[in-house]
Amino acid sequence: MGRIVYGALAPHPPHLVYAENPPQNEPRAECGWETLRWGYERMRRDLADIEYDAIVVLSPHWQTYVGTHFLGVPHFKSLSVDPIFPNLFRYRYELDVDVPLAEAMCAEASKAGLVTKMMRNPDFRVDYGTIVSCHLTDPAWRKPIVSISSQRSTAFYSVEVMQEQMIALGHATRRAIEATDRRVVLLASESLSHRHFVNEGPMPEDMSREHITNHHQYLWDMRLIEQLRSGRTREVVEQMPEFTEQAVSESDSGALTWLLAALDFPSYPAELYGYGTVIGTGNAVMGWAPPTPKEA
Ligand SMILES: [Fe+2]
Repeated sequence: MGRIVYGALAPHPPHLVYAENPPQNEPRAECGWETLRWGYERMRRDLADIEYDAIVVLSPHWQTYVGTHFLGVPHFKSLSVDPIFPNLFRYRYELDVDVPLAEAMCAEASKAGLVTKMMRNPDFRVDYGTIVSCHLTDPAWRKPIVSISSQRSTAFYSVEVMQEQMIALGHATRRAIEATDRRVVLLASESLSHRHFVNEGPMPEDMSREHITNHHQYLWDMRLIEQLRSGRTREVVEQMPEFTEQAVSESDSGALTWLLAALDFPSYPAELYGYGTVIGTGNAVMGWAPPTPKEA
């Protein structure tokens, strides 16, 4: 039986890839955002002990306005340039997609009443949220991925509508995985508080300039982290409308709600690997290792 073997909150600031200087990225950095990069390093160390077949990621930067879409082409290769930070992120990616797994999730979500579509365009450019979160989780790209779009119901309707749909999508994701033979890692690709600076210094990795935008945003981040660390995930979902609005959070994408629903609202603690700011936004790298069926 397939199962979710790991879930993570995996933020995607392109700055983190820039600061790592991987061969795929053109620009070179001296340093930067170490607490988050060391956090990802610790998460990778934990993941090294877990066997898995595929990574499934929901990204706020693949925005679809009619329903939820799933990558449905076996192989992609292209150049990804961040539209806001082309100076930091010009990344040559090459990745495989687990198309049968994507199709299974798409069909299950559709059965649950959600509007869905498989994305079959071979020239599609994979969004940088997907690329950054997957790179930081597995820089060698050893496993195939499935990327799920963010349908923008927060913008069109409300956070409540988004959550209703993302909870249904999370449950459908879990059911679909369990009906396959795949061991899957799920990634919610998003920051927590997301109010950011509007100017960049002459040297982007100058950490003397990096800090949270304001104390109010910091308080929200700490509250969320504390709830997730103490297994109060239903509380997180209940307060998501206030958090999303007041912290201008990327949780408007539905990624975190989807992840928590797919993990069946864990009451066991999340592991906090690292917290740090990127251009003033709050980011936490956190992981959940569901008990194996034997332990449960
Ligand atoms: Fe983003």
